[in-house]
Amino acid sequence: MTREILIAPSILAADFARLGEEIAAIDAAGADWIHCDVMDGHFVPNISYGADVIKAIRPLTKKMFDVHLMIAPADPYLEAFAKAGADVITVHAEAGVHLDRSLQAIRALGKKAGVSLCPATSESAIEYVLDRLDLVLVMTVNPGFGGQSFLESQLEKIRRIRSMIGDRPIRLEVDGGITRDNAAAVAAAGADTLVAGSAVFRGKSSADYAANIAAIRVAAEAGRVPKLQDISGRPARLGETALIR
Ligand code: DX5
Ligand code: ZN
Repeated sequence: MTREILIAPSILAADFARLGEEIAAIDAAGADWIHCDVMDGHFVPNISYGADVIKAIRPLTKKMFDVHLMIAPADPYLEAFAKAGADVITVHAEAGVHLDRSLQAIRALGKKAGVSLCPATSESAIEYVLDRLDLVLVMTVNPGFGGQSFLESQLEKIRRIRSMIGDRPIRLEVDGGITRDNAAAVAAAGADTLVAGSAVFRGKSSADYAANIAAIRVAAEAGRVPKLQDISGRPARLGETALIR
């Protein structure tokens, strides 16, 4: 299934002292979703912000709030994030032992359910919950910090998950180290939703952010153009741009 590319700026890279203005700026700059990274200093070695901050910024944009919970346990907090205005709530497969139950709880709250996989986690972790999912998030860095380098090892996992998804209406999101230089490769592997923090919040103005978002989007769209490697079966390599038939 070919779905439009969505760009989800991570506000972890925003200027927190001007968070409201930063939300308005990425909204005007063409962000599709707003990606919110929640870190607990336990599941990941960093603490970011919680449901109260999400609730405070929720009225500032109509865009979808894509809430990435890097917390363990997650279940006791799902309702708080739903009430704060999350549209998609993503939990980590590694954060609890009852993933199926967590996903049911998210949908019972009326929200879209996502699961995220750390770089070392196999795609087999989601094999038996595919029908409970609206989104799969492949971490392309180890979660906890913005500004890290993209892990090329994840391209094969993205390809495998794209094939597992089949015709299901599940978004395949990538998160971590995404730039205009690797957007084509992740899109070619099957990603349709790209999170980017530092690559979007570079520069100062909404115009800078718009140029950054557009560059990532154009590269990702180009990566989806039918390519010679589709015929030969050779997998896309990092940075490879479209080779049109
Ligand atoms: C990492 C977070 C990412 C991060 C992305 O734990 O989940 O969303 O903010 O930032 P960049 O794009 O700078 O890697
Ligand atoms: Zn994230």
